[in-house]
Amino acid sequence: MEIDYGLALADALGQGKVTQKALEELSPKLIEAQDWLNAKRESKELGFMDLPFQDPSPILQMAQEIRREFNHFVLIGIGGSSLGAQVLFNALRDPSSDKAPSFHVLDNVDPVKTAKILEGIELESTCFCVVSKSGSTAESMANFLVALGALERAVGRDRARRQVVFITDPEKGDLRALAKEEGYRALEVPPNVGGRFSVLSSVGLFPAAVLGIDVKGLLKGASQALKSCERREVTSNPAWLIAALHYLYHTLEAKSISVMMTYHEKLAIFADWYRQLWAESLGKEGKGQTPVKAVGTVDQHSQIQLYSDGPKDKIITFLRVKNFSRDERIPSLYPQKPALAYLGGHTLGELINAELAGTASALAKKGVPSITITLPSVNERYLGALFMVYEVATALMGRLYGINPFDQPGVEEGKRLTYGLMGREGFQEKGKEAHEIWTKRKRGTLTVGLED
Ligand code: PA5
Repeated sequence: MEIDYGLALADALGQGKVTQKALEELSPKLIEAQDWLNAKRESKELGFMDLPFQDPSPILQMAQEIRREFNHFVLIGIGGSSLGAQVLFNALRDPSSDKAPSFHVLDNVDPVKTAKILEGIELESTCFCVVSKSGSTAESMANFLVALGALERAVGRDRARRQVVFITDPEKGDLRALAKEEGYRALEVPPNVGGRFSVLSSVGLFPAAVLGIDVKGLLKGASQALKSCERREVTSNPAWLIAALHYLYHTLEAKSISVMMTYHEKLAIFADWYRQLWAESLGKEGKGQTPVKAVGTVDQHSQIQLYSDGPKDKIITFLRVKNFSRDERIPSLYPQKPALAYLGGHTLGELINAELAGTASALAKKGVPSITITLPSVNERYLGALFMVYEVATALMGRLYGINPFDQPGVEEGKRLTYGLMGREGFQEKGKEAHEIWTKRKRGTLTVGLED
């Protein structure tokens, strides 16, 4: 895996304050941030960096059972409880190579989506995996109840309970209580690992193993990357480098937007995962950088005009692969037609990577900084490494900003106000507060009447 950052340096851009020297001068702050992170790890307050060294046997064993018993696998979970598994599914699942169950995700509580998924599978051969660390997120609890209701109608109460797996806190929350009371199968989310840092725990590994993805490869890649993240030099530590460039661009040049633009569809969901990690970890106390997802080349025809000539408030990370698992040669069918002739003989893989190079160069000409991360190919080890590098970089960014990257008070408040509006016991005051604010929208209303 390579991280090229030359096009993020002032000399290549012909302008700016982010020089090699500025990067190196950030070292004392990075050392302080790293020591802070290591201390949290050593005291066991923080567990995500220990995940690569876990014994995955219980996860693999239960995944084997599920693969034997079911044809469909529905993941119920949202945010950090579902995005990691979605990245892994999109990047690594090869539908032609094994007989893993079909995979569906109930994250949103869109009634049409939920109904369609439930109607489209044979319920009697479906495993529902409910992932919620807290065991209380409204969306996940509601989708669980709707799914369980449908399952009970299809197979009866007792069998329904054998078709559900919980992934939740080992002690706390209603899902854990239900697992104990009613004998649901359950795996644990380590209490010291937060949702968006949990992809390498049972949260991401169990769905991955059910889908036939090599879990040990993911952990190996993550542990190897973690070693690089221990180096005390910004130009050889990938997490330091990513954190340093984003921090410097934000604080020295007011680049408040971080774009992750992927040039392989298998990596597109990684940008969603990154977006959540960066936003929810760092958006606090008026600080943070707005993460934006873009997909190359499609968004070249949508976003790049803005990135090139709009406000100079962005740093861009391009994520590409060197070798595609397959490629398509473009035939030379019209050698007389200039718009078609030059493509003949090249491959689509060559074209997509040339598009990236052309786009990054055009942006550099306009002074827009970019980093290019190249994976030799998409496999478990590189994905594991990428997750770990970004998790460490995010944690370091939090420390550089002086905020706590591991909480999410804004999300929790939204959850509490929703509980109140939906009548959850103990949240009446929150319900009143939300109702009062929400009704204020009616102080200004414009109605658009459409005639029949
Ligand atoms: O990263 C986080 O902490 C959040 O995105 C959570 O993962 C999300 O809110 C779901 O929470 P839970 O797993 O408790 O249902």
